[in-house]
Amino acid sequence: MNNMQYNSFFLETYGCQMNVYDSELVRSLLIQTGLRETTDWKSADIAFLNTCSIREHAESKVHSRLGNLYAAKRQKPWMLIGVLGCMAQNLKEELLQNKPYVDIILGPDSYRKIPEYLQRHQSQNHIVDTQLSKYEVYEGLFPSREFGTNAWIAISRGCDKFCTFCIVPFTRGRERSRSLESIVKEAKQAVDAGFVEITLLGQNVNSYRSEKVAFPDLLQEVAKVDGIQRIRFTSPHPSDCDDQLIEVIASNPKICNSIHLPLQSGSNRILSRMNRSYSKEEFTRLVEKFRNAMPDIGISTDIIVGFPGETDAEFQETLDVMKTVKFDSAFTFKYSARPGTKASEYTEQLTEAEKGERLERVIQLQKAHTLSQNQKMIGKTVQVLVEKASKKSEFQLMGRTDNNKIVVFDRHHFKSKDMIVLHINDAYGMTLFGDIPEKEKICD
Ligand code: SAH
Ligand code: SF4
Ligand code: F3S
Repeated sequence: MNNMQYNSFFLETYGCQMNVYDSELVRSLLIQTGLRETTDWKSADIAFLNTCSIREHAESKVHSRLGNLYAAKRQKPWMLIGVLGCMAQNLKEELLQNKPYVDIILGPDSYRKIPEYLQRHQSQNHIVDTQLSKYEVYEGLFPSREFGTNAWIAISRGCDKFCTFCIVPFTRGRERSRSLESIVKEAKQAVDAGFVEITLLGQNVNSYRSEKVAFPDLLQEVAKVDGIQRIRFTSPHPSDCDDQLIEVIASNPKICNSIHLPLQSGSNRILSRMNRSYSKEEFTRLVEKFRNAMPDIGISTDIIVGFPGETDAEFQETLDVMKTVKFDSAFTFKYSARPGTKASEYTEQLTEAEKGERLERVIQLQKAHTLSQNQKMIGKTVQVLVEKASKKSEFQLMGRTDNNKIVVFDRHHFKSKDMIVLHINDAYGMTLFGDIPEKEKICD
């Protein structure tokens, strides 16, 4: 029951897929309270920003958005502004120092109490709840998802790895896994709601453990759910990839042949200062194992340039590992010092110009690799799950291959969620182009 003066809410999400999933939980709670979602923050009674702290830039985007919201609030003083997620957890009350107009600050483990806090806000000026939990995994809450092919399902929360550059263990707290039963139940609900692809999420997805169930077992159990066509997962940690995981991905046709393996750096000294717990040799051996088991597997990565103390020679080692592996795609970042993390205290911070120059070189190299990897797909006949209209033309659709490459093709009679067979005939940048194979064209 909504006995407040609020009718509508605006919810904007920053950061990773886990935040997208969390926003779906928050949306579900708000709708249950009787509120209606709007995409117009100017007219909304409540505006929530679900925020990210991973790099300084992520936080500055939110600061400027809060400026917009404050301008709207000056026109309608009853408007409630809430900051949720990692930045709320990271900054806590500090956010109020120069933004006293923020009403509610909630960390990632406090969402269950949102309906209660909306009530309580009638009589209390500021509400700040950044209590992290060792147990909260939001079991029993069904997310309110946007319509599409893919449903995200968080299988664990938090991270215990403490990579020295990373804020996540501080904003998300200790790692905890959901029960197998609740994950399978949510997968079934997602299929009933019309989703055909499931992506399992965790900050460290493959260190999932619940009683005797390890991550590869969980993958197999989810794959048994009727109606699921494809299963993906992100982000795994290279150190937690074992032979059983490779074997399960290779042998189960529903589990996509695609893996995100964050390298971060190609220098063993930097990897050790990052506390990444693998060497470049172990990393490249792992890639080899995946490719031996699945020659067409799509491998993506994350790379940070300009970690404190990274020399030219060490940066060159990152380029060398990239050349050895030839990733299909990469997310590349300039190191951003996050207050409170160990690496932010290291003295040898690089200048923005040095980091910018290295980033540019990594981007250019990756562009060449993405293209050459995609060109290897030309001439192949592959299964594509149709997603939606292509960005560039209303006469074309886009979908994804099993190894997570985007394919654009003519619309024909296809529709979202069809699993179709396409012949790949071209590759340009990040995109493949396909058409119906000749044989099937005749039958069409
Ligand atoms: N749990 C995931 C990472 C989540 S953060 C994993 O281990 O793969 C996503 C990526 O952001 C990281 O892989 C890293 O490349 C990058 N990142 C994290 N902290 C950063 C920082 N302080 N500066 C720059 N990039 C960072
Ligand atoms: Fe951050 Fe490392 Fe945990 Fe990934 S594994 S979330 S990079 S601390
Ligand atoms: Fe950002 Fe938090 Fe995700 S810091 S990347 S939203 S876990």
